[in-house]
Amino acid sequence: MMLKKWLTSVVFLLVSMFSNALGAFVGVNIGTDVSDMPSAVDVVSILKAHQITHVRLYDANAHMLQALANTSIDVIVGVTNEELLGIGQSPSAAAAWINKNVAAYLPSTNITAISVGSEVLSVIPNAAPVLIPAMNYIHRALVAADLNFQVKVSTPLSTDIILRPFPPSAATFYSSWNSTIYQLLQFLKNTNSYYMLNAYPYYGYTKGDGIFPIEYALFRPLPSIKLIVDPNTLFHYNSMFDAMVDAAYYSIEAFNFSGIPIVVTESGWPWLGGANEPDATVENA
Ligand SMILES: *[C@@H]1O[C@H](CO)[C@@H](O)[C@H](O)[C@H]1NC(C)=O
Ligand SMILES: *[C@@H]1O[C@H](CO)[C@@H](O)[C@H](O)[C@H]1NC(C)=O
Ligand SMILES: *[C@@H]1O[C@H](CO)[C@@H](O)[C@H](O)[C@H]1NC(C)=O
Ligand SMILES: *[C@@H]1O[C@H](CO)[C@@H](O)[C@H](O)[C@H]1NC(C)=O
Repeated sequence: MMLKKWLTSVVFLLVSMFSNALGAFVGVNIGTDVSDMPSAVDVVSILKAHQITHVRLYDANAHMLQALANTSIDVIVGVTNEELLGIGQSPSAAAAWINKNVAAYLPSTNITAISVGSEVLSVIPNAAPVLIPAMNYIHRALVAADLNFQVKVSTPLSTDIILRPFPPSAATFYSSWNSTIYQLLQFLKNTNSYYMLNAYPYYGYTKGDGIFPIEYALFRPLPSIKLIVDPNTLFHYNSMFDAMVDAAYYSIEAFNFSGIPIVVTESGWPWLGGANEPDATVENA
């Protein structure tokens, strides 16, 4: 996703990680492949100064993991898309990854989850067949290290895999992903994990081609004539973000799975865009 690239490379703290079921919190995403990145120690000082309690690393940067030790910050570490293929084909590669990037830092660094890949189904759909195996191997390696109760395994997915996200009550995953999604939900359920959702209202807004008011996409109060209502549930949505999260819940429900919480692992709004993106402004972001 292009947006994410420049968001992470310019504002290295990509805001917003929300949670419904696990108690609401806001955390930050940190990408470390940035040239003018402050040192890990400085980043952690900034996080502490802002009382940030949750952090997601896109990778398993050793400096960051070290600097986060003995803080009260919860950390999600990431298997990158580049690492996915190797891990999805080799339980021993998964075990080595866990030893190097997770077991070595626990318990000082409070690693609570592993995100396996990033938006794999939309970014590298050809790698879909190795996604669930990779998650399984990572989980088994955690079991072997007796870390499976404190470290969850999941994979952040984009709202792009949801067909017609509005109205939320009618949302479903694209049926071409049925078998992958089914296996994913089964994995999340069996391991007591959660669904990681990347939800960018900016894209929902721009794809809507003018049918949604911008206030709705930006968490701003809506004039009453512009209320957004799901015609099936009569539920009023004050923000597109909430509707996107609900669309994911309903899509999961269509598979007859219940009790799988959703954690939003990414959100944001671009502050700069192309000539055809007038709403990508600093003020809106
Ligand atoms: C974290 O604290 C523990 C216990 O006090 C200590 O043994 C460890 O060296 C500390 N780790 C880091 C990276 O500071
Ligand atoms: C680590 O995070 C979990 C989940 O938020 C929390 O329950 C636990 O108390 C944390 N552990 C430490 C040592 O901060
Ligand atoms: C996918 O699952 C839905 C129900 O969840 C079903 O209606 C649809 O036919 C399935 N599609 C395929 C390709 O299996
Ligand atoms: C979900 O359950 C309903 C009612 O039991 C059933 O009609 C439907 O086929 C099930 N869907 C899937 C995808 O299993």
